[in-house]
Amino acid sequence: MRVVNLRDFEDVAREKLDPVFYDYFASGAQDEVTVAANEAAYRRLALVPRILRGAGLPSLATRVLGCAASMPVMLAPTAFHRLAWPSEGEAATARAARDAGVIMIAAMLSTITVEEIAAAGGTLWFQLYVQPDRGFTESLVRRAEAAGCRALVVTVDSPALGRNERGDRNDFHDLPPGVFCANLRGDGWSNGHVRQVVLSPEISWSHVEWLREVTRLPILLKGVLHPEDARLAVENGVDGLIVSNHGGRQLDTTPASIDRLPVIADAVAGRVPLIVDGGVRRGTDVVKALALGASAVAIGRPVLWGLAADGSEGVAAVLALLRREIENALTLCGAASAGDLGRDQVVRQGMP
Ligand SMILES: Cc1cc2nc3c(=O)[nH]c(=O)nc-3n(C[C@H](O)[C@H](O)[C@H](O)COP(=O)(O)O)c2cc1C
Repeated sequence: MRVVNLRDFEDVAREKLDPVFYDYFASGAQDEVTVAANEAAYRRLALVPRILRGAGLPSLATRVLGCAASMPVMLAPTAFHRLAWPSEGEAATARAARDAGVIMIAAMLSTITVEEIAAAGGTLWFQLYVQPDRGFTESLVRRAEAAGCRALVVTVDSPALGRNERGDRNDFHDLPPGVFCANLRGDGWSNGHVRQVVLSPEISWSHVEWLREVTRLPILLKGVLHPEDARLAVENGVDGLIVSNHGGRQLDTTPASIDRLPVIADAVAGRVPLIVDGGVRRGTDVVKALALGASAVAIGRPVLWGLAADGSEGVAAVLALLRREIENALTLCGAASAGDLGRDQVVRQGMP
């Protein structure tokens, strides 16, 4: 099959993957209402091009929190890459991100260590689930710092795990032999268990305050959907936000993340950069997010599909396809760069 867009990669990955692992990657919580909503919301938005602006070919390069990126697309943190590419896992992903010049957010629940991921030498941010044991949480932060991670992404939409019914039906509870949470090994953690992540249901702003004291790295909160929380985050010294519903894997029936972006952009009023993830599958999706106030988007599943299809080269191909689509969409919108778009260039389909 000739692969011409990101969705094609999912078809290739589905063919190649153990169906249980495919379900783990593709699934969301309960009825997967939010999984579907994320993509559907982009389709409901229409792009209004500007004409005759002499924009030339657009520049995609950008900076987010001091980190240069060749395009406004990051790799969202996703767990367990060795389920997709057993030989190398996250190392293959990290090489592709480095070569493409994009930021990779390494998941705490990676199947090789953060130090091994960092060895690829690209720009890395580290995603953290605050652990009930603050000492252990701090040791993870220190390791991420020492490995050269440039920002800390604290996932705040997971005081508990969402209910994944495909996982239950497949009885997928244990990682296969040889696959484990490499960052957590040896800390008394049941690290071969897929869903028994140690989360902190009591997580609160006091943890953010504490992390602010623990590290000098920029801190982003991932999983913000309410504008009041966005305001509180800025007041609490947070450096950036990821508007996200966890790809529909946590609370089902949350709104599509792109639909929350405008209200959060209003609440934040440019004080911190916003990243949005969930359902980004097309260059036009990226352009819509930028026009609505995002500095960048992050992609989760498409990276896993590329990785399952062809390892590092598959991830590289996903990023190259998306880059071409963004360039094309920006050019057709009359935009000279990723920042050269107005909110008035996105309207609801069917509305004037
Ligand atoms: C298989 C899988 C594992 C994930 N693991 C994590 C994780 O460990 N930490 C986290 O903050 N988000 C995790 N996410 C959520 C992603 O970071 C991101 O929010 C989501 O995938 C974006 O939606 P998309 O897949 O439609 O692009 C995971 C998502 C998937 C699909």
